[in-house]
Amino acid sequence: MCGIVGYVGKKRAAPLLLGALKKLEYRGYDSAGIAVLCGGLAVRKCAGEVSNLRSTASMEGTCGIGHTRWATHGGPTERNAHPHVWKRFAVVHNGIIENYQSLRAECEARGEEFYSETDSEVVAHLMEFYYAGDLLGALKETCARLKGSYALAVLCSERPGTIALARYKSPLVVGVGGGVWCASDIPAIAAKDRALYPLADGEFALLGDGAQFYGREGRIEKQPVGRDMSESIPLKRGYRHFMRKEIDEIPAVLAKCRPCALVSASFPGVRDGLAASSHITVVACGTAYHAGLAARCAFETLARVPCTVTVASEYRYADPVIGEGETVIAVSQSGETADTIAAAELARGCGARTVAVVNVTDSTLAGLCDDALPVSAGREIAVAATKSFNAQLMVLYTLAATLAEAKGRRGYGDLLKEMPELAAQTVSVGEGVRAWVAYFVSASSVYFIGRGADYVAALEGSLKLKEITYLPSEGYPAGELKHGTLALVEEGTPIVAVLTSERLAEKTMNAVHEVYARGARVFLITSLAEYAASKELTGAVVIPQCGEVFSPMLSVIPLQLLAYYVSVARGIDPDKPRNLAKSVTVE
Ligand code: F6R
Repeated sequence: MCGIVGYVGKKRAAPLLLGALKKLEYRGYDSAGIAVLCGGLAVRKCAGEVSNLRSTASMEGTCGIGHTRWATHGGPTERNAHPHVWKRFAVVHNGIIENYQSLRAECEARGEEFYSETDSEVVAHLMEFYYAGDLLGALKETCARLKGSYALAVLCSERPGTIALARYKSPLVVGVGGGVWCASDIPAIAAKDRALYPLADGEFALLGDGAQFYGREGRIEKQPVGRDMSESIPLKRGYRHFMRKEIDEIPAVLAKCRPCALVSASFPGVRDGLAASSHITVVACGTAYHAGLAARCAFETLARVPCTVTVASEYRYADPVIGEGETVIAVSQSGETADTIAAAELARGCGARTVAVVNVTDSTLAGLCDDALPVSAGREIAVAATKSFNAQLMVLYTLAATLAEAKGRRGYGDLLKEMPELAAQTVSVGEGVRAWVAYFVSASSVYFIGRGADYVAALEGSLKLKEITYLPSEGYPAGELKHGTLALVEEGTPIVAVLTSERLAEKTMNAVHEVYARGARVFLITSLAEYAASKELTGAVVIPQCGEVFSPMLSVIPLQLLAYYVSVARGIDPDKPRNLAKSVTVE
C-alpha cells in the first residue's frame, strides 16, 4: 500500500507535502518521510504517523516528494521509512518489487550498501546505476528491471525542480494548477482550478514547469479527468472518531442510494446482463467479501439465481471455471484492492461480464469492469468499513430485487425503501450495546454466531471486533460450534448470537442453550422480541424487522457499535488500528 505525493512549484514544498500526506494516511501510517531539493537532497523520516515528522521548518526547497507507509518488507521503523536515498537519488514507492532480492544482490555485488529491509530501496540504486544525464531514460531502464507493482516518484540532486514518475499497477495521479503535484489518489491533491491526469499502467511523467507525459515509445498527450470538487475530505464535526460518525451516517447513506431507480433507469445494461446470467460470482476481500456473502442469500433466495462468493485473493489463483453467461461482480469500497482488481481482470479476460460495485467511482476497479455501480457512501475515513458495507448491501440487494421482479416476485424493492428509517431506529437502539462493554473489554476470546443471513452478520461483527480491539474473535454458523469450537468456550466467554430468522430461531436458540450450559455469557441481537427475555441472556438488543434476507443491513449496526465501544474502552484509536490500512493496493 502506502501513499506517495510530490510537489514542484513556487512555494515551500515541505508544508504542502505534509498536508497532502495527512490526507493519504488511510493508505498506511507505519512511518512517514519527505525529501526536498534544496541545494542537495534534504530528507526527514519518522516511525509512525505523519504528525511525528519533526524539524521540517528548515527545509526551504520548492520541489519535493513524500511518503506514508504501510509496511510490507521490513518493520515499521524510521530506517525502513521512505524516501530511500542512494547517492544522487531519493525515491518514494507504493507497491511491491517482487524481484528485489535478486536486484539487491546484483547491486551489492557492485559494492553498493543498503541500510533498510525494504524492497523499495533497490529502486534508488538502479536509478543511480542507469543515470547518465537522462532522468526519464534512467527511470525507464529501472522500471524495465522491476517485477511487481509500483507508483514511483523520484528526485535527482542534479535535476533541481524536477520530479520523475512511473506507474505500473499502483495508482498515481498528476495535478497541474497552483504548482505541479502528484499523489496516490485524487482527494489528496484535488483543488479548484487544478487539472488532474491519472497515469495509466506503463506511463511516465516529468513534473517541472508543467507536466510532460510519456508512454514506453515517447511523449503522449493526456486529457484531464473531471472531478466533483464538492467531495472534500470530511471533518469529524464534534465526533471523537470518524468510525462513530460514519455509523451515524448509515441511514442518510442508504437514503441517498436510491438504488431501485438507479439500477433500472441508469444501468439497464447491468439489469439486462444479470437477467441473462446463468450464474453470478462475487469476488471481494474483507468486509466487501461479507457483503458478497449477504448478497448470495438475496440472489439465491429472492431471484433463484445460483451465486458463488469467493475471496478475491483465492479466486485469482484458483484457475476458476468461468462459464459462458456468467456475471462476475467485484465489490470494493476503495476500488483499489489489488486482489479484487486482479480477480476482475481475470474474469473479464475469460469472457465474463464484469460489474464493479464501488464507493470510489474513479477507481481502477470501476475503470476496468464493463459497468460500475456506485454505492454512494461518501468518503469513509475510519479504517474499519461501516457505512460502506451497509451501502454495498443496498446496491447488491437492489440487484437481487430487480432480478426477482423480472421473474414476477415483486415487493422487495418497496421493502428496501424503508431501510433508511429502519437503520435510523437501529442506530438508536444499538447504543444499548454500551452496557455490554465491560464483559468484552478483557475477554480472551469472543464468538459471534448465527444461521443463514445472521451468520453473515456474525462474520462481519467478528471482523469488526478483532480489527479494532485486537481481541481474538471468530464468527461461526450456530450449528457448527458443537463440531469443535465449543471446546474453546469456558466460564465467562462472551458469545454474541444474531437472530432475525423466524424460520431458524429455535435452531439458533439451541446453540444459545448449549453455550450457556458451558458457562458462556450470551448476548443477543434480534428482531424477534420474544427471544430477548430468555433467561440465558446477559444482554439483548431488539432491532426492527426487515425480513430474513435483508437483515444483515440492520443487524450489523449494533455489532459495529459494539466493536467501536470496546475499542475505545481498551484505549485503542478505532480509526487507525495497528498493522492495517484503508486501501490494500498490494498482494
Ligand atoms: C474491514 C475492512 C477491510 C476491507 C478490505 C477490502 O473493516 O475495511 O476488510 O473491507 O480490505 O477493501 P475494499 O472494500 O476497499 O476492496
